[in-house]
Amino acid sequence: MKVLVIGSTGMLGQALMYEMKRCGIKVIGIARSGADISCDIVDDRTLSNIILSIKPQIIINSAAMVSLAKCEDKPDYAYLINARPASILAEISLKTGIYFIQISTDHYYTGDCNIKHTEEQPIRLINEYGRTKYAGESFALTCQNALVVRTNIVGFRNKIDTPTFVEWAIQNIKNNSPITLFDDYFTSSIHVTQFSSALLDIIEKRPSGVLNLASSEVFSKKAFICALAEKMGHTLTNVKIGSVVDAGDASRAESLGLDVGKAETLLGYKLPNLEEVITSIVEKYENGVKNEIR
Ligand SMILES: NC(=O)c1ccc[n+]([C@@H]2O[C@H](COP(=O)([O-])OP(=O)(O)OC[C@H]3O[C@@H](n4cnc5c(N)ncnc54)[C@H](OP(=O)(O)O)[C@@H]3O)[C@@H](O)[C@H]2O)c1
Repeated sequence: MKVLVIGSTGMLGQALMYEMKRCGIKVIGIARSGADISCDIVDDRTLSNIILSIKPQIIINSAAMVSLAKCEDKPDYAYLINARPASILAEISLKTGIYFIQISTDHYYTGDCNIKHTEEQPIRLINEYGRTKYAGESFALTCQNALVVRTNIVGFRNKIDTPTFVEWAIQNIKNNSPITLFDDYFTSSIHVTQFSSALLDIIEKRPSGVLNLASSEVFSKKAFICALAEKMGHTLTNVKIGSVVDAGDASRAESLGLDVGKAETLLGYKLPNLEEVITSIVEKYENGVKNEIR
């Protein structure tokens, strides 16, 4: 099996590459820099030629412009990265029989706190990130052989200029820096390592359509940071409780819980709860990236 991971140098891409190599799968990564193959996916001719020459059986597209602020600032460029390439990948996959996995988002739900949203639940598009990601989903689904995976991922990107939420949280917990804890911002975040492992199991079943793959539990950002601090053996003394509504650089969806019942039925096992997600992150931190976070 030969897999092409687009966005292989990102937070998720790195975990997917690692997990597949660990399982002995031949995997090739694409990004603009630092990957096996350099390619800007805005350039669809080059992207198509690369795919036709590599001939993968599976494509996982995890490339995206994930910054809400950047998407608001440059919606047309966000479209060219988050949406349009999915139409090119869908068309190639349709013609060649490639199994196409489009990594999507949970950024579609607002105003209903910690409820778990199924794949069928109505969605809301309240910012350019959500709009462009949803367009990407719609393009991907023009291929019957495509799977759109909605998720909320956490982990390490190991890029100093763009710390992830977890990298930011660990740094602030360690330094006991002032943190505002949002108790009205809900997600079912899963560690990218756990996500990658579950996705490989999903791939064996070859489902198509839309699938939620995330933690089995919905929790607030406050609960997440408190659990992370506790697991790291730190007491948070410099925190205040705040609202995500006041955080904003862009309109932010905040009720992001996903119902993973469909994925769990396919997998035949439970996806991780908050405690298991935190354990996995702290293990990764202790064993791998501790010295890289100041
Ligand atoms: N991060 C989250 O909180 C979150 C939550 C839910 C869903 N997701 C989804 O999960 C997926 C992965 O997110 P992530 O956090 O891993 O993203 P990330 O860390 O920002 O990584 C993005 C990857 O895409 C590549 N990329 C970006 N623009 C590109 C372009 N024009 N051409 C080629 N490659 C390009 C980047 O490398 P270069 O910049 O070097 O090209 C990088 O490898 C995305 O689909 C995202 O929407 C993320």
